[in-house]
Amino acid sequence: MSKVIYPGSFDPVTYGHLDIIKRSASMFEEVIVGVLSNSAKNPLFTLEERTEMIEDAVKDFDNVKVINFDGLLIDYMKKNDISVIVRGLRAVTDFEYELQIAQSNRKVSKDTIDTVFLTTSIDYAYLSSSIVKEYARYGTDVSEFVPGNVAIRLKEKLN
Ligand code: PNS
Repeated sequence: MSKVIYPGSFDPVTYGHLDIIKRSASMFEEVIVGVLSNSAKNPLFTLEERTEMIEDAVKDFDNVKVINFDGLLIDYMKKNDISVIVRGLRAVTDFEYELQIAQSNRKVSKDTIDTVFLTTSIDYAYLSSSIVKEYARYGTDVSEFVPGNVAIRLKEKLN
């Protein structure tokens, strides 16, 4: 369990995601942040843009690496010898969706992959990339929710 993957669409990364990354990095030897496609979502930023924003935000962590790919999470994990997924749980509303993904990843991987959940810090319990984009779209300052470079990119993209 020394190497884990924290997957997500990160469109864009928020302080809520970074809180989970930071806490995972203090618990595990290596944390791979996987920037992936969620077929249910139409992203604002490209895979490369989302990856760059996270790379910038985690550059001071020696044991955090950011990767991206367009494929199945469990395939990447098998190829790279990773058996644990980390996900954040904000509220009970996340639970059903998270349970479904965790159980299906476990089933399809023939019980070789597990998911561990970290509860989001109370400071970020309300925060989501969608909410940040919605505020940014109407010109609201979102620098409380996302790193400075992300706030700038949101402004450039949406105005
Ligand atoms: O941040 P999100 O959008 O809730 O993350 C969901 C994500 C990207 C982790 C999930 O959609 C995913 O794992 N996508 C990669 C394709 C895959 O493996 N799909 C099967 C599980 S849904």
